[in-house]
Amino acid sequence: MLSTLKETGCRGDGLFSAVRVTLYDRTVRDRRTSADNVSSSICVIGAGPCGLTSLKNLAQAGLQDIVCYEAGSQVGGNWVFRDAHGHSSIYETAHTISSKMLSQFDDFPMPADFPDFPSHKQILAYFQAYASRFNLAQFIRFRSRVLQVKRENGGRWQVTAESPEGEEIRTFDNLIVCSGHHWDPVVPELSGDFSGTQIHAHDYKCAEPFRDSRILVVGGGNSACDIAVETSRLSRKTCISMRRGYYIIPKIIFGKPVDVAYSRLLFLPKPLRQRVLGLGLRLAIGRWEKYKLKKPDCRPMEMHPTLNSEILNLIRHGKIHPRGAIVVAKGNAVTFEDGSTEKFDTIIWATGYRTGFPFLGDMYREWTTAKRLPLYLKMMPVDSPNLYFIGLFQPIGCIWTLADYQARIAALQIAGQLKRPNNLPDLVKREMNSPHWRFQDHPRHAVEVDYHDFKAELLSELKSVTTHRSRGI
Ligand SMILES: Cc1cc2nc3c(=O)[nH]c(=O)nc-3n(C[C@H](O)[C@H](O)[C@H](O)COP(=O)(O)OP(=O)(O)OC[C@H]3O[C@@H](n4cnc5c(N)ncnc54)[C@H](O)[C@@H]3O)c2cc1C
Ligand SMILES: NC(=O)c1ccc[n+]([C@@H]2O[C@H](COP(=O)([O-])OP(=O)(O)OC[C@H]3O[C@@H](n4cnc5c(N)ncnc54)[C@H](OP(=O)(O)O)[C@@H]3O)[C@@H](O)[C@H]2O)c1
Repeated sequence: MLSTLKETGCRGDGLFSAVRVTLYDRTVRDRRTSADNVSSSICVIGAGPCGLTSLKNLAQAGLQDIVCYEAGSQVGGNWVFRDAHGHSSIYETAHTISSKMLSQFDDFPMPADFPDFPSHKQILAYFQAYASRFNLAQFIRFRSRVLQVKRENGGRWQVTAESPEGEEIRTFDNLIVCSGHHWDPVVPELSGDFSGTQIHAHDYKCAEPFRDSRILVVGGGNSACDIAVETSRLSRKTCISMRRGYYIIPKIIFGKPVDVAYSRLLFLPKPLRQRVLGLGLRLAIGRWEKYKLKKPDCRPMEMHPTLNSEILNLIRHGKIHPRGAIVVAKGNAVTFEDGSTEKFDTIIWATGYRTGFPFLGDMYREWTTAKRLPLYLKMMPVDSPNLYFIGLFQPIGCIWTLADYQARIAALQIAGQLKRPNNLPDLVKREMNSPHWRFQDHPRHAVEVDYHDFKAELLSELKSVTTHRSRGI
């Protein structure tokens, strides 16, 4: 795998990529000579995809005093299947939902032989190769969990980390949080008293333990649908409980990965795009009622999409049985909103993840239940000029490619080559009041963004680097 990455990916996958890499390297070199704040110290928390791209951007901006604490023993974060420290939510059969074309870093293309939707193993190999290409391991302290971060009076960050060697306390000028937001499971309270087994999708690793069992998967997101598809292959019966209607979209449409096909519609005004999407889906799959599913109560793009090419077929094959919301459980029987009752051995809660930063104590605790987060470009809080959150957004698309741009902004600000806007409160207010789509008003969509709109905003922020420099500031 890695040799393939070297042969194709690292040298640039075609002319376009090669040009991008060269241009990027040159601008980085130019900036490096003029960095005026390179002695700033930076703590990065987490060496998942967003931590890695943060390290790369910090180093490319000429910054040197960088420490990345990583609780696990290797890079890759969520993509390390069955990691010993229990962070990862990946399961055996996971493939990306964002396609290869839109999930590769600008300066590090995926190998030509990767499929449209790579497996978790390929994605991990890609991140390992990225870390090695940009020599990032030098910054990372593995098996080092950040326990606490305190803001000192002068505004610097005192970081306490624990590793097998013991506890370490160090103070940094800047803090970059890349600890991920798909690891802390939400397990709803089930009314009544269920006597079977209950697990969360976070702890689901493969379908085998559910052979011949009666399974109820709860949720309508990507985890729920992926897991129901897998358990349906060997369970006695798999039901899926969805409390509302969802846009369940095939991963390939008109012969193309759906995100690539969607990119061709960007020239259309948004309302028209929604109509075309709605019509395309109707033509491709028909009415939701035909699948015994509820109709979504919003238009396409207004909720996080569920990308799955199999579940709708399996429903029509009688392998997966849709159910409505759960009302109550008694013994091993579960009663649904339509009054029906059915017996199950296991409930798998694919009910999502909380956003939290245990090491920050009470700071930002309310974000766990917030419906919108007060951050500019989903990364800069108004109250701490030396704090950045990278990857704390959920795109209709890929996270880490956009995190690369966020990280570039953070690195250039820290290096003194890009100004942090001084009207942040206004910018944050505007961002909170004007989401890219009319996303459902719900914590599930607190950090939802449109991939293309968000990319344009991040690139526009980066444009002012040139302006800033060309004015000789
Ligand atoms: C099943 C599944 C499939 C997904 N598929 C896609 C996809 O196709 N495309 C996509 O864009 N996104 C996908 N995601 C979203 C996923 O969150 C991102 O792919 C990506 O992993 C986010 O990167 P990250 O670096 O922000 O966080 P993570 O990958 O979660 O990495 C965070 C890192 O921080 C470390 N860490 C956390 N707390 C501490 C601490 N206190 N001290 C030290 N280290 C710490 C962790 O050990 C981890 O290594 C998927 C998520 C799931 C659950
Ligand atoms: N193959 C892949 O690449 C893949 C696989 C899995 C996940 N992911 C990504 O990982 C992230 C997390 O996905 P996820 O599916 O785990 O979580 P999610 O997108 O947050 O979905 C959670 C689901 O659980 C439902 N739910 C929450 N609380 C509930 C309750 N009390 N009762 C009933 N239902 C409840 C939600 O319904 P409501 O809408 O009503 O709140 C929603 O359908 C997403 O970004 C996703 O795209 C990707």
